Amino acid sequence: MPRIADPRLEEKGRLAYEWASKHMPILVKSIDRLKDERPLHGVKAGFCLHVTKETSVLVMGVKMLGADVSLCAANPLTTQDDVAAFLASQGIDVYAWRNESMDEYYSCIRSVLSNRPATITDDGSDMHVLYHTEFMGKSNYKPIGGTEETTTGVIRLKALAAEGQLAYPVIAVNNAYTKHLFDNRYGTGQSTIDGILRATSMLLAGKVAVVAGYGWVGKGIANRARGMGARVIVTEIDPIKALEAHMDGFAVLPMDEACRYADLIVTATGQINVVRQEHMKAMKDGVVLANAGHFDVEIDVRWLESNASKKRVVRDNLEEYTIDGKSIYLIAKGRIANLVAAEGHPPEVMALSFANQLLSIVYIVKSHGMLEKRVYSVPEEIDRQVAINALEAMKIRIDEPTEEQLEYAKRYR
Ligand SMILES: NC(=O)c1ccc[n+]([C@@H]2O[C@H](COP(=O)([O-])OP(=O)(O)OC[C@H]3O[C@@H](n4cnc5c(N)ncnc54)[C@H](O)[C@@H]3O)[C@@H](O)[C@H]2O)c1
Repeated sequence: MPRIADPRLEEKGRLAYEWASKHMPILVKSIDRLKDERPLHGVKAGFCLHVTKETSVLVMGVKMLGADVSLCAANPLTTQDDVAAFLASQGIDVYAWRNESMDEYYSCIRSVLSNRPATITDDGSDMHVLYHTEFMGKSNYKPIGGTEETTTGVIRLKALAAEGQLAYPVIAVNNAYTKHLFDNRYGTGQSTIDGILRATSMLLAGKVAVVAGYGWVGKGIANRARGMGARVIVTEIDPIKALEAHMDGFAVLPMDEACRYADLIVTATGQINVVRQEHMKAMKDGVVLANAGHFDVEIDVRWLESNASKKRVVRDNLEEYTIDGKSIYLIAKGRIANLVAAEGHPPEVMALSFANQLLSIVYIVKSHGMLEKRVYSVPEEIDRQVAINALEAMKIRIDEPTEEQLEYAKRYR
């Protein structure tokens, strides 16, 4: 039995699904191409993804290819309840609602795993990890393989594999060029700014925005914030990324110093306690904090909680903490701001990521028994095909190398 907030939201969810489908031709084309073959016929497919309109297009596609689908959320605060209601009405086992407690969040993941999915598609690896810590070895249930959507999840899976513990092959969808170059950078860049604006309605022009981390996500946020007129400071721990940020025209400073100038601080590192008590003590009155990294560990919210003399909700997804008489504003409780305070990435960019997901799930099923228990890159032919489909969908044409150029590329002198 699905567990969702309100089945009456089905119609609104259907409209959201239709809207997203229209803007995801890259994914829809991949589904259409495989629909007759039904390569997932009879396969149980489990998903732990943010339950958004874009996810609905992916899981409905997987169902159209023949799979029996179960879905839970990849974060307790990011489910779009109308989308969950629509998917439940379509025969998908959905266990997700907005504002789950942490216990409820894990119980939903357990519900999906209890359906014994053959493939596990995760965002952040909570489901992969729960399989390994609670389900593995307790029955004869063993998935044939999985996929992983995000940087943090891939890091966790690689750690499991390094200890020789990974129980099945996993494809790191995040690492496909057609995923992280676009989703992490342009998707998160735009949707994080969207979340910040919805939560605060602040003017970015002329403000000092500090972006922690200049990886794919940080680059996107820094560039979009600059595009809206903010003066952006980047903080980094990697000398190469710091140099890149400098040459891209951003100021680069350590957080100790940058935090003093900030009107807005956005974390995008995947690391823990990047914004800590010493920073919060040094910040200006009225500073806004947001996190775009996968987990709510980048800003030390626990310190804020236990040291604020006052705390109140001032707007949707915005809390004000009073520290030493000054206000510090926190968006979305320090959770992934673009998905809690906004709708996540635009469908056009999720189409790239989810086309990789769909084709990788099919690949896992077709390669059953032939892959080792390790973290694989997305096969190059899938990555390339997604790019070709994307260019076609966007009606962008490119050149082909001439015979002479192909020969020239083979010469070494
Ligand atoms: N919000 C979203 O929708 C979304 C989308 C994609 C990825 N993510 C998540 O965002 C996070 C970053 O992803 P990414 O793809 O940019 O990773 P990345 O590895 O490309 O970049 C992370 C950067 O942070 C830097 N860093 C690490 N510790 C730091 C610190 N203490 N101070 C400053 N910089 C530090 C690293 O040197 C690196 O350059 C991950 O948790 C990922 O899962 C979120």
